[in-house]
Amino acid sequence: MPYKTIHVEASRSYDILIGNDILSKAGEIIGPIVGNCRLGLLTDSTVDKLYGKRLTDILTASGYTIHKYVIPSGEASKCADNLLKFLNFLAEHHLTRSDAIIAFGGGVVGDMAGLAAALYLRGVKYVQIPTTLLAAVDSSVGGKTAIDIPAGKNLVGAFYQPSIVCCDTKLMDTLAPEVYRDGCAEVIKYGIILDKNLYATLKTPQFDRESVVARCVEIKRDVVQQDEFDNGLRGLLNYGHTFGHAIEKLSNFEVSHGSAVAKGMLIAARLANLCSLSNITKEVEELLTMYGFDLSCNYSADELFASILSDKKRRGDNITIVLPYSIGDCRLVTFTIEELHDKLKKILD
Ligand SMILES: NC(=O)c1ccc[n+]([C@@H]2O[C@H](COP(=O)([O-])OP(=O)(O)OC[C@H]3O[C@@H](n4cnc5c(N)ncnc54)[C@H](O)[C@@H]3O)[C@@H](O)[C@H]2O)c1
Repeated sequence: MPYKTIHVEASRSYDILIGNDILSKAGEIIGPIVGNCRLGLLTDSTVDKLYGKRLTDILTASGYTIHKYVIPSGEASKCADNLLKFLNFLAEHHLTRSDAIIAFGGGVVGDMAGLAAALYLRGVKYVQIPTTLLAAVDSSVGGKTAIDIPAGKNLVGAFYQPSIVCCDTKLMDTLAPEVYRDGCAEVIKYGIILDKNLYATLKTPQFDRESVVARCVEIKRDVVQQDEFDNGLRGLLNYGHTFGHAIEKLSNFEVSHGSAVAKGMLIAARLANLCSLSNITKEVEELLTMYGFDLSCNYSADELFASILSDKKRRGDNITIVLPYSIGDCRLVTFTIEELHDKLKKILD
């Protein structure tokens, strides 16, 4: 079965394999990378119900012993309590440094399994098998791992690259439409920040999943290779996210991440327009609407601004926002916090 391979050069280099129904080859694919070992498999309840037995059977047939740990599906599971329970589970099953962890699920599972892999015995190999569109194009690439703590999302984590990523685009057939759409927000983001051809492809929402996922992964790979530890260029991947995170927080996470990012991308496009950098607002609005995103912002400039100020990405009295100069060309633009507040008032009030 043909599949695409994208190589990532980072502090640990690895391949990302993307294909339709590639899961059936998971044992053969991971074999040369993790060797003959035992596997601590982390998944969530929904993915386990749909595909847990299938993956276990595939890996068992390749000679692996699996120790599976299932967390309830949903963001609330990405917490310190579950992380510790999973680490303890690995220890109780006597997994050693030569064993490996598999993340089988969306970004919640991927982020927590990655952090567990970074911590357990000071670091063991881990394999990502992303099952959501968002995890495939975003969270399984680039080595950011994290859990949420009461003070905020993703506040505890590590940069820790996987040893291999095996992405089966067929698994996405069973995603709830709103979960799939959340992933589409990130896909659209890649088009706006760095690839106008990808953006053009997305004007057909029934896009070819395999090639679009592969292109997004390439874009993220290219950025991460230049700025693995998020000191500059990687900030481009946050297009729409500064405003999106603020909206997510203000809504008490009732607005999903993808929907919030969609709203954030439009606000950023309007900000670029206000700064006379570009005029792509209408185009971005039309594409996001075509995907079914509600683009209204139910918060005032003051509310949004207060929420932005508590963002972990803020540095001193300045704040850097990703703004589009045109489709496929986004840049980091730094504002003083007063300037940004002022401009947000013009856009939102
Ligand atoms: N590490 C990074 O670079 C990075 C980047 C972006 C997002 N994230 C993190 O990713 C998380 C969001 O990821 P997500 O959107 O994948 O959420 P998720 O993992 O919660 O998955 C969304 C829902 O889809 C279900 N699901 C997963 N695969 C399925 C399948 N194949 N069929 C049916 N249902 C399935 C899950 O059970 C869950 O209910 C957040 O915690 C976010 O912070 C991390």
